[in-house]
Amino acid sequence: MKSLDIKSSIHSYSVYIENHLLDHLKEHLDQNLFYVIISDDNIPFVYIDKVKKACENHLLILFPEGEKSKSIEEFSRIVNLLLEKSIRKDACLIALGGGVTGDLVGFIASVYLRGVPYIQIPTTLLSQIDSSVGGKVAINTEKGKNVIGSIYPPQKVLIDPSTLETLSERQFSNGMGEMIKYGMIADKNFFERIKSEDVHKNIEYFVFHSLEIKKQFIEQDEFDNGLRQSLNFGHTFGHAIESYYKYNKYLHGEAVAIGMVMVLSKAEVRKQLIEVLKKYNLPTDDNVHLGELKDYINRDKKNRNQLLKIVDVLEIGSCVITKSQFQL
Ligand SMILES: NC(=O)c1ccc[n+]([C@@H]2O[C@H](COP(=O)([O-])OP(=O)(O)OC[C@H]3O[C@@H](n4cnc5c(N)ncnc54)[C@H](O)[C@@H]3O)[C@@H](O)[C@H]2O)c1
Repeated sequence: MKSLDIKSSIHSYSVYIENHLLDHLKEHLDQNLFYVIISDDNIPFVYIDKVKKACENHLLILFPEGEKSKSIEEFSRIVNLLLEKSIRKDACLIALGGGVTGDLVGFIASVYLRGVPYIQIPTTLLSQIDSSVGGKVAINTEKGKNVIGSIYPPQKVLIDPSTLETLSERQFSNGMGEMIKYGMIADKNFFERIKSEDVHKNIEYFVFHSLEIKKQFIEQDEFDNGLRQSLNFGHTFGHAIESYYKYNKYLHGEAVAIGMVMVLSKAEVRKQLIEVLKKYNLPTDDNVHLGELKDYINRDKKNRNQLLKIVDVLEIGSCVITKSQFQL
C-alpha cells in the first residue's frame, strides 16, 4: 500500500492507495460512526455493496449520474433527505464514485449543519489522481462551472485503483487528460513515462505519482492564490468549452486536453503534447470560435482585477503564469 499525508490548515489528512483496498475497507472506517454513502446510479453496484458491507451503520443515497447532478437542485434534494433522515453532525458522509460525486458530496459536507466530516472513495481515474485530493468542492449553475463551492478537505481518501478495471476506455482517457497535465507542468520524466509506458500495467504507481505532484502545489498554496493556479493549466479554456457545450459534448479531461493545446504559446511544446494526447485518444482541437467563449472565460474564477491569468508551458516539466494575454 502506498500513502501520502496532505497538510492542510483546516485539517491534515491521509491518502491510501492500494489495489483491492475495497476488499478490506472496514479497517479504514471507524465503526462507531454512522455513514451516509452517497453515489451515482451508474457505478457498478459491486463497489456500493463493498462499501455497505464495510459500514455497520449506514444510509445509502443515490443520485442520477453525470455533471448535471452538480446542481443546486440535486444539492437541495440530498440536503433535504439528510434532514428528513435526521442525519446529525456526528455522522460521516462517504463520496463513492467519480469527481461529480466527490465535488457534490464534499460541497454538501462543507455546509450541511455548518460542516460534517466526509471521506472520499474515488473510483474514476480522474477522481483518483485529482479531484478527491485538495479539498476543492463545488456545484455548477447554468452560468458556469464550479461557481458555488468551497475548500473543505476530506477526513481521508481511500483509493482502490483496481476499480478502474470496470471504467470505460473513454472515462480512462478522460483521467489521462489530467495526468498528462501533471507531466506537462511539473515533471518531464513523468511525461515521458506516460508517453512510452502502458499506464494500465503500473496503475498504482501512476496514480500515486500524480498525487505526489498535486501535493506539492496544494500544500504550498492551499487557497489557490498563486502556485496552485498552475494546476489550472488548460482549464480556463477547458471550463469555457465545457460550459459552452452545456456539458454535453466533452468530458472534463477531454475539454482540458483541448484547453491545454489552445493555450500553449510554443509550437514545439504543442507538438509533443498533441502526440501524447493522441496516444490516449483525447481530442486536440474544437472548431468553436474564441469569441464564442468570451463570456465563459470572463467569468473564470482566476480572472482577477480584470486580468485573465493564463498558465503556459514553455518547456515540458515546468510552467509559468502570465496575465492578460487573452484579455477579451
Ligand atoms: N475538485 C477538484 O479538484 C476537481 C478536479 C478535477 C475535476 N473535478 C470535477 O470532476 C468531475 C468529473 O469527474 P469524473 O470524470 O470522475 O466524472 P463522473 O463522476 O461523472 O464519473 C464518470 C462516470 O463513470 C462512472 N463510474 C465511476 N466509477 C466507475 C467505475 N469504477 N467503473 C465504471 N464506471 C464508473 C460514473 O457512474 C459516471 O457515469 C467534474 O465535475 C470536474 O469539475 C474536480
